[in-house]
Amino acid sequence: MKLYLLLLISFLIQCSLGRYLETRDNKNDLPSISKTFYKDLDIKIPELSGLKLSASNDFLWGIGDEGQLAQITLKYKVTLLTDFQGIDTEGITIDSKTGDLIVCVEPNTISRITKSSNYKNIVNLFTVKEAAGWKEDGLEGITLFNETQIYVGSQRDALLWHYDIKGNLKKRIELKKVASQITEVADLCYDEEKNRLWVIDSAIKTIFLFNGEVTKLLKTYKLSSSINNPESIAIDRKNGNIWVGEDDDETYRLFRIEMKNL
Ligand SMILES: *[C@@H]1O[C@H](CO)[C@@H](O)[C@H](O)[C@H]1NC(C)=O
Repeated sequence: MKLYLLLLISFLIQCSLGRYLETRDNKNDLPSISKTFYKDLDIKIPELSGLKLSASNDFLWGIGDEGQLAQITLKYKVTLLTDFQGIDTEGITIDSKTGDLIVCVEPNTISRITKSSNYKNIVNLFTVKEAAGWKEDGLEGITLFNETQIYVGSQRDALLWHYDIKGNLKKRIELKKVASQITEVADLCYDEEKNRLWVIDSAIKTIFLFNGEVTKLLKTYKLSSSINNPESIAIDRKNGNIWVGEDDDETYRLFRIEMKNL
């Protein structure tokens, strides 16, 4: 009898210790900000509103509200590649199968910039019906994941849609139901390796980290109040950085946020 009791007690202790360690480890696993640096870009990209790390990991693709497509080295040097005049491009991602760039254009269009045209040619893929006519608060961020899947988000009501690359709508997610503080999607970036989604809200200058399926808020990161209109975000795991760009008339800084545990 005594032996049973002893076994039972040691079993219970092991269980609770295990659970304690598990939750503690999970908390420690999440990335945290260690330091923030910034610099002016050497050439201004008008209203930089989308960023994505290149497949080669050595520069960032940048896109602006006035249709400029640029490559930005990790030393803040800008090469303006194409000017899609008058197209309100707001977010950018890469189709890993073709190397094409996929962008969202306000209010509600998803388009492809083809690599074969040396990034000079843009063709429409599909539209987000619900965001038709949303003018300045339409689509702001896009990310491709698991090769053929797309998350695209809007400024209005912080909505997120899950499409496949052919434009079939799979799911509509209200981010406010998962993270009550969020006010909008300014840009987003899926992290394939960790199956997490990063979303930046420029109105409250905060980054939200969700699980990949967007059913859980994992962590929030408040950015410095001195940052102006942070509308773009890219993850750079190799160097341990998150890059955030300003979409502003006066300043055109690029922020490198050094992360622990990225
Ligand atoms: C992406 O694929 C991985 C591996 O198959 C899977 O675990 C994950 O749930 C997928 N992500 C989403 C958001 O569906």
